[in-house]
Amino acid sequence: MLTNRLKDDNWALHQIAERQETPGSLIKGTMPKDGYIGMLEQQLLINTTLDATLRDAVKADPRVSELVLEEQMLSPYIAEDLAFFGIETGSIDPTPGTTRFIEHIESSRDNPLHLLGLHYVRLGACNGNRFVARVVRKAYGLGETEGTRYLDPFGEKQRTGWVEFKAALDAMPFDASEQDRVFEGTRAAYLYAINMDHPEHHSAEQLLDMHGKTLDKKAFEEGHSVHVPSNQH
Ligand code: HEM
Repeated sequence: MLTNRLKDDNWALHQIAERQETPGSLIKGTMPKDGYIGMLEQQLLINTTLDATLRDAVKADPRVSELVLEEQMLSPYIAEDLAFFGIETGSIDPTPGTTRFIEHIESSRDNPLHLLGLHYVRLGACNGNRFVARVVRKAYGLGETEGTRYLDPFGEKQRTGWVEFKAALDAMPFDASEQDRVFEGTRAAYLYAINMDHPEHHSAEQLLDMHGKTLDKKAFEEGHSVHVPSNQH
């Protein structure tokens, strides 16, 4: 099944992604509030671009339009969070990592299935971000929704929505090369997300080389199973 491949063949990149400074300090509760708001600002730029290109992809490929729902567009949730913090969003400066991510999305404009792969990762990340949201609420004294809509946009519906999205993706008649294009999109999403915390871009090979010896699939799976029963993956 396609979604098994998207998960199993990307576990090492997911583990590297979790270790980066931004997600790492958010889950530990050590990120200062300014840093959290800065993260939201950068994500607004990236997700606004991805939402816009996906809207075109939906028109170009009816299979993508069946899979990508309007409620899964993430920039409106980020805009809500930033409005809650009183942030003016008209003149946000992109970091080098954001600029690279946006250029990548724009250069994939004519490849709807690659964009679908990018979308899969931001949507999948909400599974972990729901746990991150709990830490963030405690760290900054926030309520249940305001300020953490981006991290936890679907609330109690997260697991069922994710399971439905994956089932729809697996049921979609994509041939082998089309499945490869979705997979390449997921790899790119991890790669550009990881590189958000790096001034210079590293390739997947460089990252896997840097982390290779310390990556641990068993620990990774066990870490996840604490939160997620295996029949819901
Ligand atoms: C502190 C950081 C993070 C934690 C604690 C975390 C945790 C988790 C957990 C618990 C799941 C559910 C696993 C399952 O269904 O088996 C998950 C899934 C996922 N996460 Fe993360 N995550 C983190 C960061 C990230 C980042 C930075 C990205 C993307 C760049 C990401 C992308 C994904 C994706 C795509 C999935 C779905 C996996 C799949 O079924 O293909 N996560 N994460």
